[in-house]
Amino acid sequence: MTTTAPVKMVLDCDTGVDDTLAILYAALHPAVELLGVGSVWGNVDLDTATRNCLHTVHLAGRPDVPVARGADRPLLQTEPVFAYHVHGDDGQGNAGTGRVLGEPVAESAAEQMIRIAREHPGEVEVVAVGPLTNVAIALAACPELPTLVRGITIMGGAALAPGNVTEVAEANIWCDPDAAAAVFNAGWTVTMVGLDVTMLTTLDDGHRERLAAGGTLGQYVAGILDHYIGYFAAASFGERRSCMHDALAVAVAAGTLVPDLAPLVRAYVSTEGRTRGQTVCDLRGMYMGFPEQEGARCRPVLRTDPAFADQVVDLLVAAGDAAVPVTPVAGTEEESA
Ligand code: RIB
Ligand code: CA
Repeated sequence: MTTTAPVKMVLDCDTGVDDTLAILYAALHPAVELLGVGSVWGNVDLDTATRNCLHTVHLAGRPDVPVARGADRPLLQTEPVFAYHVHGDDGQGNAGTGRVLGEPVAESAAEQMIRIAREHPGEVEVVAVGPLTNVAIALAACPELPTLVRGITIMGGAALAPGNVTEVAEANIWCDPDAAAAVFNAGWTVTMVGLDVTMLTTLDDGHRERLAAGGTLGQYVAGILDHYIGYFAAASFGERRSCMHDALAVAVAAGTLVPDLAPLVRAYVSTEGRTRGQTVCDLRGMYMGFPEQEGARCRPVLRTDPAFADQVVDLLVAAGDAAVPVTPVAGTEEESA
């Protein structure tokens, strides 16, 4: 019998609802060795994202996973734009516990990413599922980062699918196109788990019922998904279901979701004008099996099994109870866990 070592991972998140599922998946799945979590502005402000990262690792019974605060705004634009209408005021579908659990470490998310990469040369997968601001800051501080890591996988972009902020731009790239351009141009191969597949893997009330019938962890997730599914019902699907987004990137990086189609192609991020935030992938080879392209350094994932949603639900149900109470508390009093 062969056993595969778990993938060492640093996960960078703007923790709203789908990021929460991604952290839980990374913290609980045996195929992942979660070495650190970084918070970044995006779905919600940085304080809320950081609090939610900490809350989630505690829920998973993994308070040992360090959480580092990252950037609170994009690299060049001054004003961040958040998505509370999608993720709720608390970034937990207005169904969070209100608990403040643990504290972020002293180093920044970019510093943590670099330190962990240096401690495990060639072994760490950077998985970024929010705006790429922290990764761009890490690259500026440590230009050799691409040679220190195993790879980088992002949830972001759209190769063939429409955008979800503008006609062509996906939210994580649109939030900080200048950071995304730096990441795409850094000389490593970017595995791009974008809207082409994340819009096709959906969660509905049937999944919520299965979660709610599990332990308190599943019940918590069922609760935070209610508002999120409601948003997507109105904005995207016309019926009560939501995309899953971020957990797909973690699973592709971990090898627990193997893409059915992910060609290696040239790609760039538009930073100008009406197409600002678009990921432009050269897919002209698609009618002849994607022949090799010179300078190709992006692997857009174009097809995955939508049944992956069940894998996530199964994992969360099997985990049983959360490691901390999931009942809401009034206010945001400090708790030690
Ligand atoms: O476009 C979807 C992405 O934007 C997801 O990562 C979601 O969490 C938000 O960050
Ligand atoms: Ca995200």
